[in-house]
Amino acid sequence: MKLKVFRYKKGEDSPHYDIFSLKEESGMTVLRALFQVQEQFDDSLAFQYSCRGAVCGICAMLINKVPRLACRTQVASLLKGEQKVALSPYPALEKKVEWDTSQEVLVEPLPHFPVIKDLIVDRDIFFKAYQFVEPVIKTESDPSQEHLMEPSYLPDLELYTNCILCGACYGACPVDGENKEYLGPAALAKLYRFHIDPRDEDNERLEKADIPNGWWACDFHGNCRRVCPKGVPPIMAIGQARVELMERKERSQDKK
Ligand code: SF4
Ligand code: FES
Repeated sequence: MKLKVFRYKKGEDSPHYDIFSLKEESGMTVLRALFQVQEQFDDSLAFQYSCRGAVCGICAMLINKVPRLACRTQVASLLKGEQKVALSPYPALEKKVEWDTSQEVLVEPLPHFPVIKDLIVDRDIFFKAYQFVEPVIKTESDPSQEHLMEPSYLPDLELYTNCILCGACYGACPVDGENKEYLGPAALAKLYRFHIDPRDEDNERLEKADIPNGWWACDFHGNCRRVCPKGVPPIMAIGQARVELMERKERSQDKK
């Protein structure tokens, strides 16, 4: 198999692609293929990883034009044409790159982030949005005590707590590509996760993103949900938050 890899380093006028012929191993992931390149052909190839088990999220990149985790994407299934994901288009997907899908895997950096080197991107903008939504429980009660909740809340909460902050949804969202001020799917889903947590006592959570670049900037393309490796549905959180905010606004109008 061949790996076609995006290459760029500071100071270069424009990026280019390198193609490496690799020995396909059984169960080989895209991350393993990148290691093979580093070990056998070019130790200057830059990419990030940590857990190698779909937990840390740092290996998210654009693989065959879909944001995915390199450590859990199998080369064999890509070459067989499996794992296709239909996405609403945006410039990074439409950028013309030729590759033979039956023999090659195309690997590019996660879109919508500045490239530092090769497949490494600067995720600052993503974590600034995350910080903005204040992702911590806020409660007046004694923090040294347990905060219990009914188990019936768990299924809804778990939908959102599964997020590993990989940024795949951010790299797949056409709105994030156009508007750097948009908070993005992951931060909004996290905000909603604290809003529905029965232990949280901040009743103004939703208002935090009741701004043009918050809930209302989403165009409901749905790419976030399609690429999320953990099945988190940010689009659902955004839709529900909008409905709740509109109902609240209608109620306060009625009272006037
Ligand atoms: S919502 Fe899914 S795709 Fe987005 S950061 Fe979390 S785990 Fe990654
Ligand atoms: S290396 Fe941690 S999610 Fe891939």
